[in-house]
Amino acid sequence: MRETELRASILELVGEFYRARFGMRPFVPKETPVRYAGRVFDEKELIRLVDASLDFWLTEGRYADEFQADFADYIGTEYAILTNSGSSANLLALTSLTSPLLGERSLKPGDEVVTVAAGFPTTLNPILQNGMIPVFVDVELGTYNVRAEAVKRAISPKTKAIFLAHTLGNPYNLDGIMEIVDEHNLWLIEDCCDALGATFREKMVGTYGDVATFSFYPAHQITTGEGGMVVTDNGIIARALISFRDWGRDCYCKGGENNTCGRRFSGKYGALPEGYDHKYVYSHIGYNLKVTDMQAAIGVEQLKKLPCFIEKRRGNFRLWAKGFQEWKRFFILPEATPNSNPSWFAYPVTVKPGAGFSRVELTDCLATEKVETRNMFGGNLLCQPAYLDIPKRIAGSLTNTDMIMKNTFFLGTYPGLSEVAIDYCLEVINNYLELKK
Ligand SMILES: Cc1ncc(COP(=O)(O)O)c(C=O)c1O
Repeated sequence: MRETELRASILELVGEFYRARFGMRPFVPKETPVRYAGRVFDEKELIRLVDASLDFWLTEGRYADEFQADFADYIGTEYAILTNSGSSANLLALTSLTSPLLGERSLKPGDEVVTVAAGFPTTLNPILQNGMIPVFVDVELGTYNVRAEAVKRAISPKTKAIFLAHTLGNPYNLDGIMEIVDEHNLWLIEDCCDALGATFREKMVGTYGDVATFSFYPAHQITTGEGGMVVTDNGIIARALISFRDWGRDCYCKGGENNTCGRRFSGKYGALPEGYDHKYVYSHIGYNLKVTDMQAAIGVEQLKKLPCFIEKRRGNFRLWAKGFQEWKRFFILPEATPNSNPSWFAYPVTVKPGAGFSRVELTDCLATEKVETRNMFGGNLLCQPAYLDIPKRIAGSLTNTDMIMKNTFFLGTYPGLSEVAIDYCLEVINNYLELKK
């Protein structure tokens, strides 16, 4: 009783603390930085975080259960498995497909996986980390996604999987990609790290592929600080995901549980003696990529805000689009893929060759006026120091990827960005362009 009362008064104080520490502050042009992204939260997240810390359970617990169940419900998949980042989610997603549990269809070193170079490095890294060969295809300017025909042309008898991100929240053409997947019996991994809540033909991204990933790093649609999720409908893949995440163990007991399988001391595994404790049986060469319950507690509250967050992102995208409309001769403007409803991570623009200024000149001017921009991740990843000598195949040219590396940048759409702030940025850009006329 005393404990319940104390917990209630602590949590009430946390609410008060939130209002004192994080209350609204007005936007002051040229003074308040215009961020490209940021965490948006209220006292509810802080209360859940403190509530979880008072449990002092620390590892996955009641909040992880709740967050995973709510997330699976929201996306519409059977399984949602928490992990400590979107990068870990990607590593787990591809690695799960190497599991011997998948029999003949398990991926092997030397298999080819189709992907892009105009993306985030940790979509590509798991392919290399698993000894597979990335096959690079170019993307379109405007949607910043692959064309299905380009993927089709890239397929060889060695190709076993497609691993692509829905760029900046804009889904790729899943009609075309699913046709290729079905025709060639390939695995599809959807990296939805920037695209939580986006739909294609009114169906959530993340439900098309065999396995899909999400990131909860603060720049994304919802945040848990660090954090990620892997979703699938396939029970065998789910088992492999959990095993690879949890040290490679065969046992699937949750923390604090014992003998869920009912065979803890009666199984025979590998060359181990009969009845070897199942808790210490390892059927995969795994990692430890788990989260804490404190992270999951924040996720529970953030997920409730997600529909509003996505609408705000879409609204901010429309404000940018309206402002940029008259500058089409300087920029290639972003376009939603047909039949999709993006969950815009950002507003990407490409400075046209011959615009009379470079991306660097413009983004430098914006930075001086306290407007944050970002390049489209690593540009052409193959030009990055780490990737100069990787094993690879390039299908066709990467002309647009190179153009993105040189000429593309993005502005924020995150829900913390106000219309006043966007108007200010548009004015700064307008003043810049006036000088270039
Ligand atoms: C497309 C994509 N995939 C994966 C990641 C990695 O996510 P995390 O930062 O949570 O590791 C990111 C990061 O923003 C991303 O943009």
